[in-house]
Amino acid sequence: MKFFLDTANVDEIREAAELGLVDGITTNPSLLAKEAAPDREILERICELVPGPVSAEVVATDAEGMVREGRDLAKIASNIVVKCPLIAEGLKAVRILKEDGIRSNVTLCFSVPQALFAAKAGAYIVSPFVGRLDDIGTEGMALIRDIRQVYRNYEFQTQILVASIRNPLHVIEAARIGADIATIPAKVYQALLKHPLTDSGLERFLEDYKKAQKLGAAV
Ligand code: E4P
Repeated sequence: MKFFLDTANVDEIREAAELGLVDGITTNPSLLAKEAAPDREILERICELVPGPVSAEVVATDAEGMVREGRDLAKIASNIVVKCPLIAEGLKAVRILKEDGIRSNVTLCFSVPQALFAAKAGAYIVSPFVGRLDDIGTEGMALIRDIRQVYRNYEFQTQILVASIRNPLHVIEAARIGADIATIPAKVYQALLKHPLTDSGLERFLEDYKKAQKLGAAV
């Protein structure tokens, strides 16, 4: 499973990218609005830091406008993936962008039929939002299981990106199901790597090593 970071914060991306284990980035207008620099500048910097797919979202709501914006966003770098909303106009835009060789991420997916439409339109990625479904009392991960099964049945190549991740359990379950990508907020990304028993175990090993060194020196 690929790990993407769900952020537009260049410092968070730089820090995580140092590990060499960030496969891509997802941004959206809300994430970009939190940052101080102009959107295009931020996207350029992100594309330099991460060679994998970087999703950048259109804000037009008609297909013509989305295609215009998508073509312009794709000029930023070859790793830009254009994010279009899962509405009829968005799907029209996905088809046209695909003819241009531009990859798209169909975002705001909340149902299996929507995911089928995205795949049939030729989306490179579909983004079901699990956390936002959990928020309204619907099990988000059940949607991922269903989409995985339906895509497998028809051998759709569209990648399933688990979005709106709120905690490590979402990531673990995404991996169990066989989702292609999890896009993870920086805080959750760090939490995934950490385990208190790793930290206390390492501390103990180092203490014992120092003790043995002292004893050895005394003999
Ligand atoms: C995905 O591409 C979105 O940016 C993101 O996962 C939305 O998550 P939220 O529900 O925490 O805003």
